[in-house]
Amino acid sequence: MTERTFSIIKPDATKRNLTGKINAVIEDAGLRIVAQRRIQMTEAQAKKFYEVHAERPFYGELVETMTSAPVVVQVLEGENAMARYREVMGATNPEQAAEGTIRKLFALNVGENSVHGSDSLDNAKLEIAQFFTEADIVG
Ligand code: CMP
Repeated sequence: MTERTFSIIKPDATKRNLTGKINAVIEDAGLRIVAQRRIQMTEAQAKKFYEVHAERPFYGELVETMTSAPVVVQVLEGENAMARYREVMGATNPEQAAEGTIRKLFALNVGENSVHGSDSLDNAKLEIAQFFTEADIVG
């Protein structure tokens, strides 16, 4: 089924000028970038986005990292886009990521792991809605 998922190219990657290289991996995997915007995430946006992790010990560090430089927020579209993008990203911890995945190729560590992707279709909807309106998405 054609689906949409939400992606963030994180500060560690934008700082190293890796947006194009990451987009190439995404596109080579058959996913279409149907909306994309480079933004400086505010503290309020990062806190809201990662609300589910609010009680985790790394929450403060996560919010700090995500606001430390610009990010690129994206909507990806394709067959089974949510699960497909999770395959393409690789494991959260780059030490456990498979060969050829974005995190294996580019991530520095678990906190600076280059990309985020939605972990369910319900979350994809909510995450897309935090940053895009339907008019921004051109499939
Ligand atoms: P992401 O997919 O964006 O979702 C939550 C993020 O929290 C995750 O990627 C990691 O970057 C980050 N994270 C998860 N575990 C840790 C950890 N132990 N220390 C620091 N950051 C973490």
